[in-house]
Amino acid sequence: MSIIPSAASQLYNAADFSQGVAYIAGEYLPLKNASIPMTDRGFVRSDATYDVVHVWNGRFFRLDNYIDRFHRSMAGFRMSIKESKDELKAILHECVRRSGLRNAYVQMTCTRGVPKPGSRDPRECINQLTCFAQPFVWIANEQQREEGLSMIISSTQRIPPESVDPRFKNFHWLDLTMAVFEAYEKGAIVPVLPDRDGHITEGPGFNIFSVRNGRIVTPDRGVFEGMTRRTVIELAPELQIACEVRPLKAAELHDADEIFITSTAGGIMPVTRLDGRQVGDGRPGRIARAIHDLYWRRHEEGWKATEIDYGTAS
Ligand SMILES: Cc1ncc(COP(=O)(O)O)c(C=O)c1O
Repeated sequence: MSIIPSAASQLYNAADFSQGVAYIAGEYLPLKNASIPMTDRGFVRSDATYDVVHVWNGRFFRLDNYIDRFHRSMAGFRMSIKESKDELKAILHECVRRSGLRNAYVQMTCTRGVPKPGSRDPRECINQLTCFAQPFVWIANEQQREEGLSMIISSTQRIPPESVDPRFKNFHWLDLTMAVFEAYEKGAIVPVLPDRDGHITEGPGFNIFSVRNGRIVTPDRGVFEGMTRRTVIELAPELQIACEVRPLKAAELHDADEIFITSTAGGIMPVTRLDGRQVGDGRPGRIARAIHDLYWRRHEEGWKATEIDYGTAS
């Protein structure tokens, strides 16, 4: 397998690449020109898995961990790709290099593939890898990150883990998306979804932490095990903050001193309103701020970072 760009992909100039670069079937092309076949089960059945790693200041964050997680998701959904982990790393690197982006949102996706004519047997599909790099995406804008987000606990329940295992990253987002509509209708920005027992799970693209008496709590089940969540769990002891990973009741979230959410797309972001009432004193909390600062300081220091060699973008 070659990751060397073909003559066709070199036809595009650097300007085309600056808003995003995609990799499909051995080709690098501007993201806006990239598409997958319409009958790929990834499109018609949400039969796909993916992962998203970020690049900050020209360096991937925790790249090997993200790639390992992508492989776990593929195995979880009985998928595999022909590219090795090293080849995948080289492809992601090349997408970012060609975009020239220093801060980027980098996605790797495996779709089930196009079924054989007349076949409904997923085993007959050849799973397909596609990747792209685009400018860094923030779940919350600057003002929201500064002032804190307004959240609701949605009436829509998260898909149960017994149906679709949320530890394997997937496109089954309609529960999350319907909850976003409800949040907007109620004047909030983001929803968090409960499970059928009233435990808090997660929201569209993020995990949640509640803070009470200086201790942080994040749900243990029914959630995607986010890399940012993992990073917070790892960094908390450095700040002498106790962290519990256990079921989190909605009532507990209502009693929280602080709430924050975590995502590759933005890091650690405070929530200052829940279900129309202020959280704590209504301002971003001290603990969320401390973890936020340490998270970004580690980025500046190059902790768990992989440098990108931009060379001369062709
Ligand atoms: C459903 C869901 N939960 C949590 C997260 C946060 O995970 P990470 O910190 O790895 O971005 C994501 C990220 O996209 C997600 O889609």
